[in-house]
Amino acid sequence: MAKQDFLTLSSVPAKDWGSLWDRAATLKAERRRGVRHQALAGKTVALVFEKSSTRTRVSFEVGVYELGGHAVVLSSAGSQLARGEPIEDTARVLAGYCHAIMIRTFGQERVETLARMADVPVINGLSDQHHPCQVASDLLTVREHFGEVAGLRYAWVGDGNNMAASWIEAAGLLGLELALACPEGYQPDASMIAAARAAQTALGRGSITLVTDPRRAVAGAQVISTDVWASMGQEAEALARQTAFAGYCVDEALVAQAAPGARVLHCLPAHRGEEISGGVIDGPASLVWTQAENRLHVQKAILERLIGA
Ligand code: CP
Ligand code: NVA
Repeated sequence: MAKQDFLTLSSVPAKDWGSLWDRAATLKAERRRGVRHQALAGKTVALVFEKSSTRTRVSFEVGVYELGGHAVVLSSAGSQLARGEPIEDTARVLAGYCHAIMIRTFGQERVETLARMADVPVINGLSDQHHPCQVASDLLTVREHFGEVAGLRYAWVGDGNNMAASWIEAAGLLGLELALACPEGYQPDASMIAAARAAQTALGRGSITLVTDPRRAVAGAQVISTDVWASMGQEAEALARQTAFAGYCVDEALVAQAAPGARVLHCLPAHRGEEISGGVIDGPASLVWTQAENRLHVQKAILERLIGA
């Protein structure tokens, strides 16, 4: 059987997402009861980081351990990647030792090259273009809170970045109603929106709206998501971005414009007082801490799907 990768959310077909989230929910409940698992017994997963991480690093390492496997963490700084060893060579070598490779890197083409050259499953732990593990966790969090995923209205406020792109892909794949508010010059890739809209037309469900006014995006939304204004690799643009994103803070006044009972997501790390107010992230509308915890459970379900016994 051909190996399966998890490079973007579409790597898992729409029909399989419900059972994947069910499995994540079971793993979460069983973990609370102390049930132990061995699906990855005898298996090793390489975790490759070309960018910093707290959640992805720890949730994958703990997740592999809790499934009975072993994780090897490789950061570019401590490895030959920083000295320019090609990703193609790294892929072939790691695939000789490990049963799967998770990578966090810059261009999505590096993830795809790794997947092409490694004959073991590859998981995208964030690229400049996508963050599928995070949005998989976000939607599990939504499902836990609201009892459903489709049928809700979603708003994205902020940069048209990797997180926004994975939300757009989710909207296309699952037929979600998604409104994005991004400043001019920081909007998501138009071809990605067109592809997701075409997927929605084929499904007969969902919509994607792009506006510049955050109040328009959140009007009637049950779920509001945001992220930092300058992503990893964009540190030099941070000051210019603070000016461009003025007015895009998810604060109490903005949340008040959303549907009653609306909830707020942020993938973290967050900058209180920039893209989100302290009162919102630490307040009753926030699902942020559950969202972060759910990375562990959803990634265990993905690992089982790709390399489980
Ligand atoms: N949300 C997320 O991916 O966090 P880290 O950068 O800490 O892994
Ligand atoms: N958009 C952010 C997400 C961090 C988890 C970044 O790429 O830095």
